[in-house]
Amino acid sequence: MSKVTVVGAGNVGATCANVLAVNEVANEVVLIDIKEGLAEGKAMDIMQTAQLMGFDTVVKGVTNDYSQTADSDVVVITSGLPRKPGMTREELIGVNAGIVKSVAQNILKYSPNTILVIVSNPMDPMAYLSLKTLGLPRNRVIGMGGALDSSRFKYFLSQALGCNANEVEGLVIGGHGDTTMIPLASLATYKGVPVTKLLSAEKLDEVVKNTMVGGATLTGLLGTSAWMAPGAAASFLVESIIKDQKKMIVCATYLDGEYGMKDITIGVPVIIGKDGIERIVELDLNDDEKAKLAASEDAVRKTNNILYETGIL
Ligand code: 2OP
Repeated sequence: MSKVTVVGAGNVGATCANVLAVNEVANEVVLIDIKEGLAEGKAMDIMQTAQLMGFDTVVKGVTNDYSQTADSDVVVITSGLPRKPGMTREELIGVNAGIVKSVAQNILKYSPNTILVIVSNPMDPMAYLSLKTLGLPRNRVIGMGGALDSSRFKYFLSQALGCNANEVEGLVIGGHGDTTMIPLASLATYKGVPVTKLLSAEKLDEVVKNTMVGGATLTGLLGTSAWMAPGAAASFLVESIIKDQKKMIVCATYLDGEYGMKDITIGVPVIIGKDGIERIVELDLNDDEKAKLAASEDAVRKTNNILYETGIL
């Protein structure tokens, strides 16, 4: 029996619960929210698709009762406000840090051995905050951003190549921010062929830029931040844990010397299995990518410093 909790029944949380159910990632999914009735309503709506979609996962909604989340194998935290058009993810830190901290503490009370998947923004600092607050080993706190950004990168690459996105490989490392993420064009491939051989430098540059502002573009179109791909990316991570798939996924990971960084949570490729982050993969980056990663590190550290300056850590 496997159990997954999703905290926050907003757009991202409900979509994640839905994808977890439709893909039968776990036997039981608990959706929890502070707003009276919201999680119950979304869970009931999802369950009324069970017969239509043919899944057996049971999704249960609860209002603020953390005892119902007890003994979850994995917990996805989506709590907090999403960004509005024109906002950066980093601007959400003031509101979301307190929320994420108290959610993480409540979760650990009832699921002391769980693995946390952090979705709330700003995602890298929220993963760092959760790890530091709870004092968990780094394999048990995973930030979702790179999984989402890499999927967006593959989408834009497939559009430029006119091909099936499932046949494209691409990684986006660094922070989950409009200016901090680094789509690694040099390592992206289409059926094993480097995309640098298939697309002009200008076209590739456009793909990289579109990827970096992928979330902001959707926020502008939707009036709030995206939820389909973020929810699916969180479910994708959960599936690799629950089914011990050992997929290589870019995740915000606490580094202790890897990539020359310490005491920071930032996106790098990792192997995700039953123990969470089971291995950190160190890529051979070129000088340009190394410089971009150093700049991304600085930016993420600046946001982390706010956590210390405001006394939340
Ligand atoms: C995004 O990029 C919500 O940060 C998330 O859409």
